Amino acid sequence: MSGPELDKNPGEHGTPLLELSGLRVFYGAIEALKGIDLTVGRGEAVALLGANGAGKSTTLKTVSGMLAPRHGEVRLHGERIDGIASHELVRFGLGHVPEGRRVFARMTVLENLTMGAYRFRRPDPDDLDRVFGLFPRLHERRKQIAGTLSGGEQQMLAIGRALMGKPELLLLDEPSMGLAPLIVEQIFDILREVNEQGTTLLLVEQNASEALQLANRGYVLETGEVVMSGPADTLLADPRIRAAYLGEHVEVD
Ligand SMILES: Nc1ncnc2c1ncn2[C@@H]1O[C@H](COP(=O)(O)OP(=O)(O)OP(=O)(O)O)[C@@H](O)[C@H]1O
Ligand SMILES: [Mg+2]
Repeated sequence: MSGPELDKNPGEHGTPLLELSGLRVFYGAIEALKGIDLTVGRGEAVALLGANGAGKSTTLKTVSGMLAPRHGEVRLHGERIDGIASHELVRFGLGHVPEGRRVFARMTVLENLTMGAYRFRRPDPDDLDRVFGLFPRLHERRKQIAGTLSGGEQQMLAIGRALMGKPELLLLDEPSMGLAPLIVEQIFDILREVNEQGTTLLLVEQNASEALQLANRGYVLETGEVVMSGPADTLLADPRIRAAYLGEHVEVD
């Protein structure tokens, strides 16, 4: 291996883009994350899998500054970012597409995209072209009120809006949730393209099959702990993953 491929190997080459170490996060007395270690290398797509309540959203919210860890560290480019407010973190090149695709329902598609560029004085026309290139549907509907879009279109808008902030690292929380298979396919194709264009992805998904086909590596969370991690194809072939997340009936010791 040589050149850019090396950059996809955190630990072997330089500082990871994102590094979580010993992360413990509480809701009151409930310990939702019990010491998470996780890295994302520059240019990688990393999948975060796990059952309901495992702590996937909590992990993303902690990275994006919506929650503060009680113990442990979040580092971006090697710099501590835990404790920095989420609106500040946008300036550090962090984009978050939260659970439930929250768009500004009363604004048009174009206004939503413009809001995504709020950290700049005005939106970069090249970014708008990029988003419309990725999502031609959003271009067709640019004057439409976002609340009247279909679920799939709202998800596209939520991703497009995050891209308008020029994120180096994009956090996505279950982008396929509640969408028809054909739309899910489209969204994953676009995420693949976004990743190939150089944006690093940390992707939370229930759809383990799609997520691991897109990702370079993956982590599996169980009740606030990492129970498995490795290259995506290894995880995809693992009988425990196949049983738990791909609905296969296999014998597991
Ligand atoms: N606001 C909250 N107050 C109290 N407990 C919470 C809160 N949000 C989450 N939790 C608890 O923290 C744990 C982790 O929740 P989290 O939302 O991170 O899970 P998840 O993996 O994203 O699950 P899902 O697949 O359902 O989205 C769960 O036990 C959950 O009940
Ligand atoms: Mg969640």
